[in-house]
Amino acid sequence: MNDKLQKNADACYRLAENEAVEYFTSLTGQLANKIYATTLTKDIQNWKQNHIHHNTFLTLFSRGKGKSDSRDYYNYIQWLDYTGKLDNYLERSISYIFLRDLGKSLDSYHTQNRIRLVVDDIKEHLPLSTATGNGGKVEMFSMAGLYRWAQKEGVESTMIWLMNKLKIVSSNIPKGMNSEEAKRKLIKIIAGVILHQIEEMGEEETAEERTRKLDEAIRLGYSYGLTYPFIDDLLDSGVLSLEEKKQYSDLIRTTLVTGVVPELEAWSGNNKGLINYIHLELREAFSYIQACRRQGTGDNFFDQSYVFFHSQEVDREKDLLNENYTNEELYIPIILKSASSRLIVRAVLSAEEDDGFDKRTFFYGIYNQLADDFADMFDDLEAGAVTPYTYYMKYHHSRPDLINPFELYWTVISNLIHNVYHSDTKTRDVILNRAINGLKRYKERMGDKKYDEVMELFATGNPKFDRLIQRMVRKADDVDFFDKLLRDHIIANFKDDREEREVFKDMVETMRNEINDFLHIRENDDVSIMEEPIMDASNYSLQGDGKRLRPIMTWVMGVHEYGLDQSAIVPLLKSLEYMHTASLIFDDLPSQDNSPVRRGRPTLHHMYNTATAELAGLYLTQKAVEEQASLEQFDPEAVLRLIRYSAGKTTDMCKGQAMDLNSKGKRLTLEQLNTMCFYKTGIAFEASLVMPAILAGKQEGELKALKRFAYHAGIAFQIKDDLLDVEGEFASLGKPIGKDIENNNSTFVSILGAEDARKAMWDHYCTAMETLQEMQHKTPYLKHFLNYIVNRDN
Ligand code: IPE
Ligand code: IPE
Ligand code: MG
Ligand code: MG
Ligand code: MG
Repeated sequence: MNDKLQKNADACYRLAENEAVEYFTSLTGQLANKIYATTLTKDIQNWKQNHIHHNTFLTLFSRGKGKSDSRDYYNYIQWLDYTGKLDNYLERSISYIFLRDLGKSLDSYHTQNRIRLVVDDIKEHLPLSTATGNGGKVEMFSMAGLYRWAQKEGVESTMIWLMNKLKIVSSNIPKGMNSEEAKRKLIKIIAGVILHQIEEMGEEETAEERTRKLDEAIRLGYSYGLTYPFIDDLLDSGVLSLEEKKQYSDLIRTTLVTGVVPELEAWSGNNKGLINYIHLELREAFSYIQACRRQGTGDNFFDQSYVFFHSQEVDREKDLLNENYTNEELYIPIILKSASSRLIVRAVLSAEEDDGFDKRTFFYGIYNQLADDFADMFDDLEAGAVTPYTYYMKYHHSRPDLINPFELYWTVISNLIHNVYHSDTKTRDVILNRAINGLKRYKERMGDKKYDEVMELFATGNPKFDRLIQRMVRKADDVDFFDKLLRDHIIANFKDDREEREVFKDMVETMRNEINDFLHIRENDDVSIMEEPIMDASNYSLQGDGKRLRPIMTWVMGVHEYGLDQSAIVPLLKSLEYMHTASLIFDDLPSQDNSPVRRGRPTLHHMYNTATAELAGLYLTQKAVEEQASLEQFDPEAVLRLIRYSAGKTTDMCKGQAMDLNSKGKRLTLEQLNTMCFYKTGIAFEASLVMPAILAGKQEGELKALKRFAYHAGIAFQIKDDLLDVEGEFASLGKPIGKDIENNNSTFVSILGAEDARKAMWDHYCTAMETLQEMQHKTPYLKHFLNYIVNRDN
């Protein structure tokens, strides 16, 4: 490695270290003379006016009855709204984000104004009234919610790019690490960079410029965010061997010092595949960051990243069994890592120097670090990790010189309020809210007994102050924060989503196997020998490995949602797959798409001949009607209604195929494309949802919602099919690639291009999700089905 560059990096680190030492010395001074306790006691006396509510009979009554559990996202938000607390709640939450994440000082008029705007914006997106469902609003942080935001800002392609990247990252997170946690952190970093970018932009920005800057922020956020799972977490985990960790740290160090990811030399160790992927991804990320650097803004990003990385390394190497660490050794690296990690988020944008931001952020970091380490102390202790708390727990008896980290925590708070933020009242309120809330949450999580033990262990030696704090923890109200609520909600959502997805996957797999078993058409006694080739031919087409999506949807909705008897609807399931298979046989004929392979095997007309294929197609559609007419266990009127509906839809599908064939070489409008795709493909999805609903006697309202969902899901399915025709793989698809181009077909891709086709697909995806929100009958299955449609590779 270049010596000069290494020296430069070392110099940066030393400079930062000196600043940290100076800061730490000032803190320990304030701690030693206990100024913090006197100052904070006064602060808390003032602050509590708005947070201690003397109970009247009425409040006692309404509290007991109405106070909503903050773990229940929807009810809690509605409770806040109902009790008139929502505005204050959002205001303190957003103020905190501006303080902590954006490094703002709250006493500026501009910042106050921005906070108000953000609060209003968030309120728009909250699920506020149950009376109307949530008005078709999708979750702010769901794929659909994010995509809708991207549309508003004109960064759809970037969002699609990001979703794809996140998918790949998730699939590459090794077993010994938490893939959801990695994804969550990555998203948080990206969101942080986007927030910075939004605050950097002025009102005068043109729409194009805003889009360009947001696009860059998303990509930069991802590029920098990758370092969390793939550098820090990876090195913290036990995935790499010691030898591998050493090689990997060297690689990262060189990267940060030189600004370029070096070539990967021969890798010794078991994780070669993983490292190869990470290396390529980091390489792309760092060259993107390099390419975005603006003239004249210096090497701030790389310098800060080096400080971050190196301080983490120093910290990582600590050993809880070493009883000789000095206070400086314990605290300086954490001041450095907590400050630099936040400074980088702005530095990666090459934003203009802002001394105020730098200073505030530098001083702020350790506040969060001490709060986080406090919350995690028992986990850290178990893992043998050195943090100020674990070290103090282990050695405070034998080392009276050790600083009590909890006391330092309050010193940091007092210093922030008075020396960094000049005794600003708003700042004081927000920080005290946060601090008291942190303890309340901790107490709730650990239980009173454990909490009291911890408090005794970390008593500040100033009983009056300690008592005051504990009184606040018991009595103070209105100190909770939206980001915490959201975080819990998102984590719970991720978890539920994963569990549901697994259940869904297993269920689909089981159903597919069962469907495969009963699809086969068997000989009837009265069948003459002459009909056999057609039946064999039909069975040949049915046997191929189709996804069986249509009968699976019917099964899921019919049995799991509407409670229909499973064996009673088997004829309906068969009929759906018969009709679909017939449509494929026709679609592949030389007169239509002329395709030689389907479901991984030669098409029927190749295997037999065109006449047999045509007859088998006809045979299967009639078999389908025969099956429908044998739905004996249902109300005959419903069955008749079903058959009429089904026949009508089959005629519509024929129209769809005709439109498709007539459109060769034509420039269809978007409207025509949508209509064509709905007719040729969407209708079959509609039928799979509507037919079980008819059997279950569902009302028109429910059918309408299902149809709306199927319209958008079906078109999304066809767009994905068009995309796979250009970018899929034969091996997984089981049908040839490039058929549409060969046939000069008009598809979403041929008319809009792949990028805009993808956007159209996601737009239909979002509308389908929104439709689900409006449905009275909520089902998680359709959501997973939709996710499958847009993410599938076959
Ligand atoms: C293919 O349908 C025809 C289209 C509507 C695009 P599928 O992709 O569901 O085909 P199989 O049943 O799995 O073979
Ligand atoms: C077919 O669309 C729609 C049908 C209902 C048959 P495509 O022609 O794009 O289907 P593939 O790609 O051949 O499966
Ligand atoms: Mg076709
Ligand atoms: Mg085709
Ligand atoms: Mg196709």
